[in-house]
Amino acid sequence: MMLLIKGGTLVTHEESRKADLLCDNGKIIQIGADLSAPDAEVIDATGKLIMPGGIDPHTHMQLPFMGTVAKDDFASGTAAALAGGTTTIIDFVIPSPQQSLLEAYQQWRDWSEKAHANYSFHVAITWWDDSVAKEMTTLVKEHGVNSFKHFMAYKNAIMATDDILVASFTQCLELGAVPTVHAENGELVFHLQQKMLQKGMNGPEAHPLSRPSSVEGEAANRAISIAKTLGAPIYLVHVSTEEAADAIRYAKDHGQTVFGEVLAGHLVVDDSVYQNTDWETAAAHVMSPPFRPKHHQDALWKAVQAGTLQTTATDHCAFCTEQKAMGKEDFTKIPNGTAGVEERLMVLWDKGVNSGKITANEFVALTSTNTAKIFNLYPQKGSIREGADADLVIWDPEQSKTLSAKSHWSNIEHSIFEGMTVSGVPVTTICNGKVAFDNGKLLAEQGDGQYVKRAPYAPFYQALEKRLSLAEPKPVDRN
Ligand code: URP
Ligand code: ZN
Ligand code: ZN
Repeated sequence: MMLLIKGGTLVTHEESRKADLLCDNGKIIQIGADLSAPDAEVIDATGKLIMPGGIDPHTHMQLPFMGTVAKDDFASGTAAALAGGTTTIIDFVIPSPQQSLLEAYQQWRDWSEKAHANYSFHVAITWWDDSVAKEMTTLVKEHGVNSFKHFMAYKNAIMATDDILVASFTQCLELGAVPTVHAENGELVFHLQQKMLQKGMNGPEAHPLSRPSSVEGEAANRAISIAKTLGAPIYLVHVSTEEAADAIRYAKDHGQTVFGEVLAGHLVVDDSVYQNTDWETAAAHVMSPPFRPKHHQDALWKAVQAGTLQTTATDHCAFCTEQKAMGKEDFTKIPNGTAGVEERLMVLWDKGVNSGKITANEFVALTSTNTAKIFNLYPQKGSIREGADADLVIWDPEQSKTLSAKSHWSNIEHSIFEGMTVSGVPVTTICNGKVAFDNGKLLAEQGDGQYVKRAPYAPFYQALEKRLSLAEPKPVDRN
C-alpha cells in the first residue's frame, strides 16, 4: 500500500524544508508540496520532523560471547531499534578461531531471519591462513560484505595480532573493503587484569583500571600506522578516549583516510558508574572500552563537532543481570556489553541538538548518512530523495520521555540511560515503506527486516586507488 506523509519538515544532512512524501513498494517515489494519492495510507506529520531512519553501524544481537549468548536476538533487538527510530543495523559475524568465515556468515544469516528491521553484516577476522583470504573474497564478491572487523583485545579468544592485521588489511585493500578495529591493546589488558586480581581487586571497579585510556590510545595509533603503511583506509569502532580521537585527528590532518565511531553511551556516561555500591548496577556497565572519566566526554563531543568522529553507534550487546553474575567473584568473567540501540537517537538529540552542540542536520549525518556513505549504502539509505529506500523516522521535537529499563524493548533489566529525561522522541518509524512502529506499538513482524548487501569500492576508495596507483614505486633506471 502507498504511504503519504503530509505536513512535516524533512530534515536531511544537507537541509531542512517542508514537503510531503509519497512512498510505494518500499521506496520514496515523490517529494513535493501538497501531494495527494487517493489510495494511500496518510500520516499527518504536522509539527514533526521527518528524517532518514537511523543506521546503527555497531550491534551484537544474539552474540555468543564470554561463555554466554547476548539476550537480545535479532527479533527483540530490531524491535528495540525500530522503537528508537533506527531502521537498519550493521551487526557482526564473529567466527570462532579456525571456523570458516562462510559457515559463520551463514549461521548469522539464519539467526537474523527473524529481524523486524533491516540488517547488514561486518565480518570479524579472528585468525588467519590462505582460506580466510579466499573466504573474504567470496564474502565481498558474492554476499555483500564490504567491511571486516579486527578485535585488538580479547586475548586467548578472538584477538587479532599484528600479523593478522597486516594480512587482513592488505586483503581488504585488494578487495575494496573497509578494515575496522576495536582498538585496545589486548596484551596490556590481560596483564592489568591479572595484576588487579592479584591485588584482590575482583569487582567491577577493577574493569576500567584494567583498560586505562592509554591502552586504547596505543592500539588506535598502531592500527592507524599499520593502515597508513599499507595504504589502506581504516575505521575505528567505539572511540572512547581523547588519545584515540587525537590519533584520528592527527592522521586525518596528514591526509590519511581514517574514520571514527563514537557510542552514545561514551558521550554521556562516565566511569563513576563502576563505584556504585550495588554490584549489579556496577556490573551492568561493564563493557569494553569502559566508560571514562568525564574529560574524555568533552574531548569526544569536540571530536564529533570537528568531524574527527563521523558516526554514532551503540555496540548494543545486551547481557541480563543473571549473565553479568557469571563474574561475581572475578570481574574478568563479567560478560562485556551494554544495550542502547533504542535510546541512541533520543540521547543524541537531547544531549547534542538540544544543548546546541550539533544541528539537526548534523544529527542526521551522525546517526544515519555518514554511516551510509562510509559503508556504501548511500544514497539508497541515509537520504531522503526520490528513489531512495523509504526508511524514515517521524520525530516529535517537543515530546519528552524518561528512559528506563521498565519501558524499553530490550530483554534486559537494566539500562545505562536509566532515569534520563530526554526531549525529542521518535513517534513513528517507517521501514521499507511500511509503518513499523507507531506511538509505542510494534507493527513490523518478524522477518520484515531485509538483509542489506553492501558493494565494495565506496567513493573514498576510488580516490584512494588513484592515489596509490600514482604512488607506485619504480626502479631506478641505471642503464
Ligand atoms: O563490551 C563490548 N563492547 N562487548 C561487545 C564486543 C565488543 O567489544 O564490541
Ligand atoms: Zn569492541
Ligand atoms: Zn562491539
